Amino acid sequence: MDGYKIISEFILQPMIQLKSFDINLYNKVITKKDNQLAHIDNQSKIKYNVYYNNELCGFVGLIPGNKDVGFTQIIIIKQFRGYGLLKLIYQALVNKHRLKRLYARIMKSNVRSVKAHLKIGFKEISEEETKAQIKMGRMSRYQTTLYKDY
Ligand SMILES: CC(C)(COP(=O)(O)OP(=O)(O)OC[C@H]1O[C@@H](n2cnc3c(N)ncnc32)[C@H](O)[C@@H]1OP(=O)(O)O)[C@@H](O)C(=O)NCCC(=O)NCCS
Repeated sequence: MDGYKIISEFILQPMIQLKSFDINLYNKVITKKDNQLAHIDNQSKIKYNVYYNNELCGFVGLIPGNKDVGFTQIIIIKQFRGYGLLKLIYQALVNKHRLKRLYARIMKSNVRSVKAHLKIGFKEISEEETKAQIKMGRMSRYQTTLYKDY
């Protein structure tokens, strides 16, 4: 019985945990370059420290939009990149805030981020929508806006 409990706790234990944002920790571990790519500190209304198996692996931010939609920003700490954590972190964020759609606005020059988002099922908004967003001043022509429905 005890063995069963230990195994089931291990399986049910979430690998990804979102905990309250710690600006001091953020400033300590995030490089200037990464911060320029994702401005989590001053742009996201909601933000979290992200832990993978109890180790700090990054930070994620959310700018809530209408209803169950939100814009996200993310930085995965270098040593944790390339392991597919992006998908798991977004899933944790979506679950926590009961979101139906996530948007990510990314500099086109940030090829790694664009590719990483496409790889986990994000799609580019339509050309018309892109033009409209640029016209309204919501994004620049150097950015791309991707979305995923959950
Ligand atoms: C963007 C980020 C969250 C992506 O997470 P990640 O764990 O690095 O993503 P992956 O390693 O799965 O990369 C996804 C794809 O990008 C591509 N890629 C990886 N390294 C790359 C590089 N140096 N240059 C270009 N493309 C690269 C690969 O095609 C890879 O797919 P593959 O694993 O099938 O080969 C992470 O790199 C990060 O935090 N970057 C710094 C901050 C940032 O840019 N945040 C996003 C702002 S919108």
